[in-house]
Amino acid sequence: MKSFYVSTPIYYVNGQPHAGHAYTTVVADVLARYHRLAGYQTFFLTGTDEHGENVAKAAAAAGLEPEAFVDQVSASFRGAWDQLEISYDDFIRTTEPRHQRVVQQVLQKVYDAGDIYYGEYQGLYCVKCERYYTEKELTADRLCPQHFIPPEVRTEANYFFRMEKYRSWFQQELQRNPDLIRPSAYAHEVSEMLREPIGDLSISRPKSRVRWGIEIPWDDSHVAYVWFDALLNYISALGYPDGPQFAQFWPVSWHVVGKDILRTHTLFWATMLRAAGLPLYQRLNVQGYLLGSDGRKMSKSLGNGIDPLEAGRRYGAEVLRYALLREVSFGMDGIVSDAVIEQRLNSDLANDLGNLLSRTVTMVERYRGGLVPTPGPQGQREQAIARAALALQAGILEQVRDMRISQAIEEVLEFVRDLNRYLTETQPWALAKVPEQSGQLDLTLYTALEGLRIAAVLLGPVMPHKMEALRGQLGLAPGQAASLEGDWGLLQPGTRVQPGEVLFPKPGTQLGEERQQPQEDRKPNPQGGEPAQGAGEISLEDFAKLDLRVAEVTAAELVPGADRLLKLSLSLGGESRTVVSGIRRWFAPEKLLGRRVVVVANLKPVRLRGILSQGMILAAEDGDQLDLIGPELPLASGSKVR
Ligand code: MSP
Repeated sequence: MKSFYVSTPIYYVNGQPHAGHAYTTVVADVLARYHRLAGYQTFFLTGTDEHGENVAKAAAAAGLEPEAFVDQVSASFRGAWDQLEISYDDFIRTTEPRHQRVVQQVLQKVYDAGDIYYGEYQGLYCVKCERYYTEKELTADRLCPQHFIPPEVRTEANYFFRMEKYRSWFQQELQRNPDLIRPSAYAHEVSEMLREPIGDLSISRPKSRVRWGIEIPWDDSHVAYVWFDALLNYISALGYPDGPQFAQFWPVSWHVVGKDILRTHTLFWATMLRAAGLPLYQRLNVQGYLLGSDGRKMSKSLGNGIDPLEAGRRYGAEVLRYALLREVSFGMDGIVSDAVIEQRLNSDLANDLGNLLSRTVTMVERYRGGLVPTPGPQGQREQAIARAALALQAGILEQVRDMRISQAIEEVLEFVRDLNRYLTETQPWALAKVPEQSGQLDLTLYTALEGLRIAAVLLGPVMPHKMEALRGQLGLAPGQAASLEGDWGLLQPGTRVQPGEVLFPKPGTQLGEERQQPQEDRKPNPQGGEPAQGAGEISLEDFAKLDLRVAEVTAAELVPGADRLLKLSLSLGGESRTVVSGIRRWFAPEKLLGRRVVVVANLKPVRLRGILSQGMILAAEDGDQLDLIGPELPLASGSKVR
């Protein structure tokens, strides 16, 4: 039997869970659920990160001992995950003895191997991130890029891990395995980090300053640095070194992490594993940020988050899960506001899926006494529907493993919409009036019912209870005819349908007014400038002033608060550029990755939404359509356009 292991980051317990944490956890949960559905033996780990200065400070602020404080907050994470139907197999806490033991074992092992030494260090330390930053990583104002606070200059005598020693090994490893880090833009980012020395890592803190941590086994005056402690949760929970779960699951381990902790999960974690003589994880899946109401990363310290429990209560936990997964393209930043959740609920869930179920079941009641009819031979249309359903079923795991979760969901919804179209075309209500059409009516109703059964199987990992309820209305018992392997036709004729409650009641409020377009995004020209009026004739010399180049899009992301803009990273033959372009309406960011475009490379840089845009990409407009201009052949980026 195949095995699969997926983990979330373990969450800091210095604040309550917010929708950003929920997003990561829901992504890991659907990965686990799709694998279980496909018959994999699956282990899904989440948990809490409970040591370190921040947690100790938060405990003090709450007037509690750290032990009591972490118990409370850890329980609230667990409670949130239970409400969001997170099917974790284990919940690890770094204060548990089973974890502390492993941290000490690994420290000792790496120390004995000579990869830990004692030394002094001075650096710029962000107390909120609990890590040192290099000058280059800080913002232009020399602030922490996560928290926008000035880092402290710290000098400390600590133990250091010889991280730099493993840099070239890791570089080779990344080259050898281009799928290790996905999406590939993040692999690229890590390769860039590895071009320059990464230095050694300070992995201890003097107890005189930080008491709240795991003791260094050979020196009781120091505790382990919180990241050296936390990362090991991924193996301590499996019973490293000799637990059977470790042997079974570590070779197939997938991590899901936010891009804020890319560096720690690559430079730190990969080199730690190597030094401990362990193989690398199989895959690091890196996601973007959920942006808060102010367009910045949702976070505890900025206080701009959606409370997942509140949103779950208002719309239903599964509607929230659906919206998070459908709305955010994995790897990209996204906004999941109340308006967005309501729109998904109204359109996809209530109008498309819920409506298909209720109209179908109602017709079975009305025309067939509530019994699933026996279908006669299929026509072309029914054959095409059955084929489409089976193709979706056969392909969904692969799509999910490729982290195209949003696309996979959309394809199922497209299938559901097609079933609705089929009913509209076939008009069963008209067929019911003509006795000679009785066979066609049976076939039509059966096709819709069986299509619904398969759609519910496919969406089960996203909305487990709702899809079980849907299947219940089709007359199926829990778990019956619910596998990904099943053929078309598993819903038995003669089954009694069970019309029930409306599956997705619409909330009282309709989708709110669309967010106001900020002034600067309202310009008619996609590049953000004035529309060309025709500039008269220019000379060849004028034209020659333009430096037009082929460039490759290496990253694309939304610009917070600007509905029309995308921020693109372009590779221009050895040089990389940022260009802000008003093409959001026509292109989802992920569609642009790897695309070759033509850029005006010597355009004077301008600042748009605080981002320095260094050039302009060329596009052609035809009415409502817009396309980017680029070479057909894979010409090298940087090639001159003349
Ligand atoms: N404790 C560390 C992780 C240690 S893993 C060995 C940590 N914790 S955290 O609570 O600050 O955040 C953990 C994760 O929560 C992020 O990596 C990310 O996956 C998720 N998110 C937190 N805020 C988020 C958003 N605004 N958007 C999306 N995910 C976010 O870092």
